[in-house]
Order: sequence, then structure tokens, then C-alpha cells
Amino acid sequence: MRNPANARLHDLPHIVSIVRDARRRIPLLKNPDLTYLFWECTLRCNLRCAHCGSSCSPERRDPELTTAQVRRILDTIAEDFDARRIFVSITGGEPLLRPDLFEVVAHMTSLGMRPCIVTNGTLLDRQAASRLYDAGMRVVSVSIDGTQQEHEAVRGRGTFERALQGMTNAKQAGFEVVEAITCVRPANLPVLDAVERAVRDAGAGMWRLITIDRMGRQAGALDREMWLHPPQIRALFDFITTRQAALERAGDPFHVQFSCGGFLGVRHELRVRPTDGQCFAGLCVGSILSDGQVSACPSLPRSWAQGSALERRFSEIWFQRFAAHRDVSWRRSGPCEGCSWFDVCLGGGLHERLAQPDAFCWLDRQSGP
Ligand SMILES: C[S@@+](CC[C@H](N)C(=O)[O-])C[C@H]1O[C@@H](n2cnc3c(N)ncnc32)[C@H](O)[C@@H]1O
Ligand code: SF4
Ligand code: SF4
Repeated sequence: MRNPANARLHDLPHIVSIVRDARRRIPLLKNPDLTYLFWECTLRCNLRCAHCGSSCSPERRDPELTTAQVRRILDTIAEDFDARRIFVSITGGEPLLRPDLFEVVAHMTSLGMRPCIVTNGTLLDRQAASRLYDAGMRVVSVSIDGTQQEHEAVRGRGTFERALQGMTNAKQAGFEVVEAITCVRPANLPVLDAVERAVRDAGAGMWRLITIDRMGRQAGALDREMWLHPPQIRALFDFITTRQAALERAGDPFHVQFSCGGFLGVRHELRVRPTDGQCFAGLCVGSILSDGQVSACPSLPRSWAQGSALERRFSEIWFQRFAAHRDVSWRRSGPCEGCSWFDVCLGGGLHERLAQPDAFCWLDRQSGP
């Protein structure tokens, strides 16, 4: 439903909730408030996943921040912002390839930041899990892309059990939040029930479902194996809504949610996730990229970086740049021109919009055969 005026009467309270939730973003356009920081610590990886949106591999030799450099950047952030309000998501590449990871995590914690990691799990052995916990980390997200067959089809042989074991090791080390992340594609959509059982058995308490963006190794791809078509998107949303409702009815604390940017439509928004999927890139989300460039989010094209934290203070870049992230008028174009939901959606998730300009609107992605 593209026009809210066509809403049925019983949808109205839900639409009010959607509009109210969306308003959170408006003040941030003028007064950005850094509360979520990505650190893309490396682009190296021990795997070479077919869908990798960052084109990571064991061979990559991109410039990386030294331990001293990243510590210094974090220090300036702690001097210029309230570090206790900053949640840091450490991603890559594979973060566990950095030998100084534990030291940097401990430094983040000592500054008051709350670090978490997104990992392929294969290197998260008991010792690594305990060291991260001892360094103050409490939240871990492990990528699980199917049951063994679908997971290993994109991530490589032998990776499934190791990833599940990584999750179990984190749980046993005392992590408070152990989350599984699944990139949903046609091959794993029919086996989501089995994936849930596997990640729960391994210790996950949360499960985040996302779709594959046309970035990195998937840039420009119209790959039928990776891309969900409208009936599959509808099936995915129905799966999540039905499953989450059943969990709540049963008083089961396990949580499943969708997590991609942009407005999903009245039927699914705030039902497949507790808050809407507004894109906060450059509003409360900032990133330190592997080479020290400052961007809003690591999924944006490199050309959208705003300056180097090795040359200027992070805060200077944060407050003085990011104009195109904070003036959304340019996004009233293409399918968004004249869209009645624009004030709620603000033109979709930024990285999806840039990566796949013909296919970023979730209303369009759900409609059709
Ligand atoms: C780039 S990885 C880095 C962390 C770690 N190496 C891992 O695989 O979890 C971060 C997350 O992005 C997901 N991802 C990779 N390629 C993607 C793509 N093309 N579109 C959407 N998500 C993607 C991964 O599955 C993972 O959950
Ligand atoms: S998705 Fe993660 S594990 Fe796979 S190649 Fe990319 S960075 Fe490595
Ligand atoms: S992406 Fe654009 S067209 Fe689609 S709902 Fe959002 S504002 Fe409307």
C-alpha cells in the first residue's frame, strides 16, 4: 500500500505507531548524536564467501590501522563524545584475524564504550571467547547462512560446525547476547525452521535475518541464487511475523527479527522487528574503516567516506561533514518522488539505495510475481 489514505480503519493505530517511531530520526538530521560506531578492523578474512558484500579474502592486503593508531582515534572519540553511550560493532573482514583485537576491545571497555563483534565464528575458540569476555565484551553476532548444506555452499566446507561451536563457546564464556545472523537467499528460505533449531541448540538467544545486497562480490549481480524475489520476500516476512508471535505466545525469550533498512509497508513494519528499519547512517551511526577513513557505515561505497581520522579528529569529521547524509532532499527522486511514505522512510536504507538503485524500495520488492 503506497498511499496511507488507502489504509483500512483497523490499520490506523498501527500507522500511528509507525509514524511515531519514524519521528525519532528527524531531530538527528540537525543534531547528529553518535551512539553506534562500527570499526571495520580489517578487510582480510580466512574465508571467501560467495556473497561477501566487502569482497574479503585471505589475499587482501589493504592498509590497516596499527594498534596505536586505532587506540588514539578511540581516545579522541572518548574525549569528544560520551563514550558510555557508544556501542561499538567490530566487523570486517574477520575481526578475529587481528592479533591485537583483545587489547583494543579492552581499551574500548576502559573508555566506557560497549564493544561487540560480528564474526564468521570459525576462529572463536574457547580461548578467544574467554579473552573477549575478559576484555569486557558481552555481545557477539555469528553469521550462520543456513543448515550445513546452504551455509557451506557460500562459506566453504567445514565452516558450519565451527561457526556453531564458536557461538557455543561465547555462550559458555558468559556472553550476555549471542546472536545468529542469517543472510536469507532462495536456498535457505525453505529451511529456516531447521536453522533456528541449529542456532538455538548452539546457544543463540537472538536471530537476525537479512537479505543479500548487491555489493562487493555481489555488485551488479542479478544472481538468482542470492536474490529473493517478491513471493520469497513475502514468505520471509510471514515466517518472521508468525514465528515471533508464536514465541511471544509461548513466553519463549528467543527473538527473531528482520533487519534491513527502509520502510517495509503497513502489514510488516514493526511486526517483523520491534522498531522500524530507519537508516541512521551519519545521524547516530558512524564508522572507522580499515584504513582510518571515517564513513557513516562500512556498507556504503568507499567514495562516501568523509575524511581520514589519521589526519583530523573523528569529531571534526563527524560534526562538519556528512552533509549528504543529513540533508535528505536529494532522496526524493526515482521511486521516492511523490511517495506518501517519504517522511517515514526518508528514501530507504542508504547503502541499499546506493548499491542497487533499481531495487531498494521494500514496497516494490514485495509486490509482483
Ligand atoms: C562482512 S561480514 C564481516 C564479519 C564476519 N566476517 C562475518 O561473516 O560475520 C558482516 C555481515 O555481513 C553479512 N554480509 C556479507 N555479505 C553481504 C551482502 N552482500 N549483503 C548483506 N549482508 C552481507 C555477513 O553475512 C555478516 O553477517
Ligand atoms: S562474509 Fe564475513 S566471513 Fe565471509 S568473506 Fe566476507 S568477511 Fe569473510
Ligand atoms: S524507498 Fe522511497 S518509494 Fe519506497 S517507501 Fe521509501 S520513500 Fe517510498
